[in-house]
Amino acid sequence: MAARRRTAFVTGASQGIGATIAADLARDGFDVAVSSTRPEKLAGVLGEIAAAGARAVPVALDVRSQASVEQAIAAAVGAFGQLDVLVNNAGVALKKSALDITLAEWENVIGTNLTGTFLMSRQMGRHLIGGGRPGCIISIASTHGLVGLEGRSAYGISKAAIIHMTKMLAIEWAEHGIRVNAIAPGRVETAARAGSFADPSYRDWALARIPLRRFGTAEEIAAAVCYLASLQAAYITGQTLVLDGGLTAY
Ligand SMILES: NC(=O)c1ccc[n+]([C@@H]2O[C@H](COP(=O)([O-])OP(=O)(O)OC[C@H]3O[C@@H](n4cnc5c(N)ncnc54)[C@H](OP(=O)(O)O)[C@@H]3O)[C@@H](O)[C@H]2O)c1
Repeated sequence: MAARRRTAFVTGASQGIGATIAADLARDGFDVAVSSTRPEKLAGVLGEIAAAGARAVPVALDVRSQASVEQAIAAAVGAFGQLDVLVNNAGVALKKSALDITLAEWENVIGTNLTGTFLMSRQMGRHLIGGGRPGCIISIASTHGLVGLEGRSAYGISKAAIIHMTKMLAIEWAEHGIRVNAIAPGRVETAARAGSFADPSYRDWALARIPLRRFGTAEEIAAAVCYLASLQAAYITGQTLVLDGGLTAY
C-alpha cells in the first residue's frame, strides 16, 4: 500500500510568501489546504499546487474569528482525513507612530497576527492531540519582533509575542510529539511590496542596514518552512529561525 501523503495547512496563501510556501510544500510531497479571507483569490496557488501533482483544498478563513478557525480546520481535516503541518503565515503590517495608532488598527494587527496565530495553533493542537498524532506548527514572525524600529510598534509587538508563543506551545505540546517553531524573515521582496521596495530612498536606507546588501525572497522563506516541516528537523522545537541577510547581526 502506498504511504499516506503528508498534509499541510497554510494560512494567508493567496499571495506573497504564503503562496510560495504552499507551492513549495506541494513540490515537497505535501497535499496542501490554502486559505484566504476571499477564496476567489486562491486560483493561482491552487493551480501551482495541482501542477506539482499534489491535492489542493481551498478554505475560507478569517484568523481573527474562533468560529472561522474551527470551520477552516474542520474543512481541511474533512478533505484530507488529518493534518500534519500548520503554517501560520497570515499577517497584516502597519507602519504608524505609536502615538497615532487607532484602537481599531491596534486590534486588527494584534487580532490577525497574534490572536489569529494562537487560535489556529490551538485548533491544530486540539486536532493533533485529539487524534494522538505528532505534528508540526511553523509561524511566520518577523525581525521586527526581535529588534526595535520606529513606526512598527503594533506589528513588532505582535511578532515578538509570536516568538514567545512558539516557546510556550513547544514546551506544552512536546509530550504529544508536536514541534512548534517560528521563522523571522527580515525584508522580503514580494509583488505586494514591489512598489515600496523600488523607491530608491527606501531601498538605499534598507539595504545599508542588511550586511548581505539584498532583500530576501519568498523562495528562501519557503525553503526554511520546508526544512522545519521535514523529518530532518525532528529535533528542532521552540526555536525561531532568522532569515534576514544579517540585519539583526548588527
Ligand atoms: N514581506 C516581508 O518583507 C515580510 C517580512 C517579515 C515577515 N513577514 C510576514 O510574512 C507573512 C506574509 O507576508 P507577505 O509579505 O507575503 O504578506 P501579504 O502579501 O500582505 O499577504 C498576507 C496574507 O495574509 C492574509 N490575511 C490578512 N488578514 C487575514 C485575516 N484576518 N485572516 C486570514 N488571512 C489574512 C491575506 O489573505 P487575503 O487573501 O484574505 O488578503 C494574505 O494572503 C506575514 O505574516 C508577514 O507579517 C513579511
